[in-house]
Order: sequence, then C-alpha cells, then structure tokens
Amino acid sequence: PLVTSKEMFKKAYKGGYAIGAFNVNNMEIIQGIVEAGKEENAPLILQVSAGARKYAQPVYLKKLVEAAVEYSGLPIVLHLDHGDSFEICKACVDDGFTSVMIDGSKYPFEENIALTKKVVDYAHSKGVVVEAELGRLSGIEDAVSVSERDAAFTDPDEAVEFVERTGVDSLAIAIGTSHGAYKFKGEPRLDFERLEKISSMLPNFPLVLHGASSVPQEFVEICNKYGGQIPGAKGVPEDMLRKAAEMGVCKINIDTDLRLAMTASIRKYLAENPSHFDPRQYLGPGREAIKQMVIHKMRDVLGCSGKA
Ligand code: G3H
Ligand code: 13P
Ligand code: ZN
Ligand code: NA
Repeated sequence: PLVTSKEMFKKAYKGGYAIGAFNVNNMEIIQGIVEAGKEENAPLILQVSAGARKYAQPVYLKKLVEAAVEYSGLPIVLHLDHGDSFEICKACVDDGFTSVMIDGSKYPFEENIALTKKVVDYAHSKGVVVEAELGRLSGIEDAVSVSERDAAFTDPDEAVEFVERTGVDSLAIAIGTSHGAYKFKGEPRLDFERLEKISSMLPNFPLVLHGASSVPQEFVEICNKYGGQIPGAKGVPEDMLRKAAEMGVCKINIDTDLRLAMTASIRKYLAENPSHFDPRQYLGPGREAIKQMVIHKMRDVLGCSGKA
C-alpha cells in the first residue's frame, strides 16, 4: 500500500537501520528500484523533485508510483523532495502524496520555522507527514574554518528548538554530505560527533541524510571509459552511511547513484552495440543496473532488507 513513513521510521529507528529514499523521474528508474525492493522485501520511499514533476508531468509519476504499489504489494511512501514553497507542498498533499519535504534551509531560522510550521499544519490536517531541513549542505573541506563549519552545519540546540516549535516529523541535517557527484575534494569526512549530539538531544526522532550517494567508482570508470567525462567524482563511503543508519538516521537519500548506474550501463551498451537503436535494448540494461545497485544498498548499506 501507499503509506506514510511514520511506522517505517519507528521500526528503522529501533532496528538501527535506514530506509532508502530514491529519486524517480521515469518508468525504468521506478521499475529498477521496485524490483530491488521486491527481491529484498524492503520498504521503499520513492521521492519526486520539482524538476521531476516538471520533466514527467505530475500525473505520470503519480500513476507510475501507484502502479508500483499495485505491482509490488510493498509499503511505499510517495514523497516530495525539496519542496521550496507552501504551494508546491500543498499541491502534492492534495495530489495524494503521503509525505512532503519543505526545504526552508536557505532562510533564516525564524522564517524556516514559520514556513515549516505552515506546511506541517496543512499536511497533518490531511494525514500527511513532513520532513524539513536545518543547516546548509556542504563538505567539511569547503567550510575552511571551524566557525564556517559551525555556521553551515546543523546546530544541535537549534535542531531541538526547530522540531519542538514546528511539530515536523523528520529533519534533514547537515553534517558534511552534499548533493551531486563531487562531494569531497580530499578524504571524505562526516561530522559524526554532531550527528551523535543531535541524535541524543532528540531521542526517537528520525533524522534524514541528503546527498548520501556513494558514487561507486566502478560506475565512474565505466562512464569515463565509454565516452563520459566525470573525472574525480567522489561520494560518501558506504561504511559511513552504514554507521549513520545504525544511529538516528532513518532515511538516506540517493539520486546520483541511480543516475550513474543507469548512465554507465547505457554508455557501455551503446558503445558495444552501435547498430542497436531500439530504446528497450539499452533502457533494459539501465533498469537492471539500477536494480542491482539498489539491492546492494539495501543489503549492505541501509540494512532495510527483509523489513517490509
Ligand atoms: O536533491 C536533488 C535531487 O537529486 C533531485 O535533483 O532537482 O535535478 O531532480 P533534480
Ligand atoms: P545525492 O546527490 O547524493 O544522490 O543526494 C540526493 C538527495 O539528497 C536528494 O534529495
Ligand atoms: Zn536532497
Ligand atoms: Na537509523
């Protein structure tokens, strides 16, 4: 069924694992993720960005996710990723999403609280849960000084006040992860001390990690070997994600790894089969690459296999 993340997060928190939240834009991406979920009997969060809604038209993605629910029988959350206004959150709530993110992280603290509270009041009145974000995502080495890092990363005291005053259901925090395929210039590092502190001050409260792709080097190498140019792409090491999942982090966002898996596979296929032009011939392997990547995440990183 289409569900909220309420029970999922409760179980994940207690069980010391995290649910994978995967960004979806088209049928093959959804099918690859859902096949993995089926094989692993894992709960799923399928998330749609504003860009995804624009690319596919909202109704297509909604119907595809409904098809995924019917086909798989798995508990699936339909989530808005990075909603940037009350209006888009309301549109998704009215559209049947079971979860929305209001990302007010670019606003001053009080404005973020006011905007988040407004979304929470509306969403909760319709039985929909809300994720918010506090802090700005950036790598540790991008914040050169300790004071810059303190300014960008989530402040534990503010996190407690934010959660209390907004009534939000989960909170995305900044501890050194960032979006995209170039997360660290040097050694990957996350501020686990900060995560530990936030978590201890918000007992039983689900935290969310954005920018949590691992950027598997096998995909980067295949892309670069078959005409791609993404040198130096680097992500969050899997053991760090696993450690976060064992702590208060209950939702781990993955988009870049889906893009890389699919693109690596399609680049390779087209290079090796120059006479083929039926999209099913290369989208099929692209979908399969996503499935295998997601199975690995569920089993070896998130720990959510068998938890549906
Ligand atoms: O955090 C952003 C997600 O990776 C979605 O990306 O806005 O390009 O769809 P998008
Ligand atoms: P990645 O770019 O690391 O996959 O992060 C995705 C994300 O946070 C979507 O909200
Ligand atoms: Zn994000
Ligand atoms: Na966890």
